[in-house]
Amino acid sequence: MIYLKTDEEIELLRENNLLVSRALAEVGRHVRAGITTRELDKIAESIIRDAGAEPAFFGYQGYPASSCISVNEVVVHGIPGGRVIEEGDIVSVDLGTFMKGFVGDSAYTFAVGEVSAEARKLMEVTKEALRKGAAQAKAGNRVGDISAAVQEYAESFGFGVVRELEGHGLGRKMHEAPGVPNYGARGRGPLLKEGMVICIEPMITQGNRAVVFERDGWTVRTRDRKLAAHYEWAVAIRRGGPDILTDFNIIEQALNN
Ligand code: MF3
Ligand code: CO
Repeated sequence: MIYLKTDEEIELLRENNLLVSRALAEVGRHVRAGITTRELDKIAESIIRDAGAEPAFFGYQGYPASSCISVNEVVVHGIPGGRVIEEGDIVSVDLGTFMKGFVGDSAYTFAVGEVSAEARKLMEVTKEALRKGAAQAKAGNRVGDISAAVQEYAESFGFGVVRELEGHGLGRKMHEAPGVPNYGARGRGPLLKEGMVICIEPMITQGNRAVVFERDGWTVRTRDRKLAAHYEWAVAIRRGGPDILTDFNIIEQALNN
């Protein structure tokens, strides 16, 4: 069942995802060598709660924190804790909000100080793959058009596309239909219609695409322990084309100040 959203509902989803963007910006300003992932989680949680929202991840299938913080070889769902951020790390932060009956869900990967040229490239390509996918999020296209755009772009640089996790519909629940894989064939999959809201979230690896699910029940890391990057946008499919509900400008402006 795919729920189509009204214009008013899309604005509530935008409010949520702008709050996520603001919280990501505040976390991004604090991502530096010496801070723990638990401290970053607390920063995110206070921005979310101070805005009158709830952290959507907390308690989700028993998840124990407000954010997922995934460092270097961790692809997604890193549980915040005592890990200390180091110079040269890349740190993916994924945040969710619940406010006014709707959910926000977006992610950004931050560089800590000087990172390797290869890490920088991986981050840039992952973010651009997200843009290429989102450009396909228009009525009349199919989910496979998004998937193929992400996959082709990332693989053209020799990077790996994680298969085990995917994007999703977003609304009153964090995970709605349809699933939005980061690999696939053009012209295949569910038809995209006006009023659909989806999260597109490429998870791209420097080396082999294979991942391992850690015994903590959450952490997903690359099998070869090479780097992974992850960016996520909430996107509404509208008459005029894709409407990006997440705002990376807020994050990038905060990083440049
Ligand atoms: N943001 C993740 C997603 O897009 C969900 C995080 S899992 C949670 O699927 F348990 F932390 F909520
Ligand atoms: Co998501």
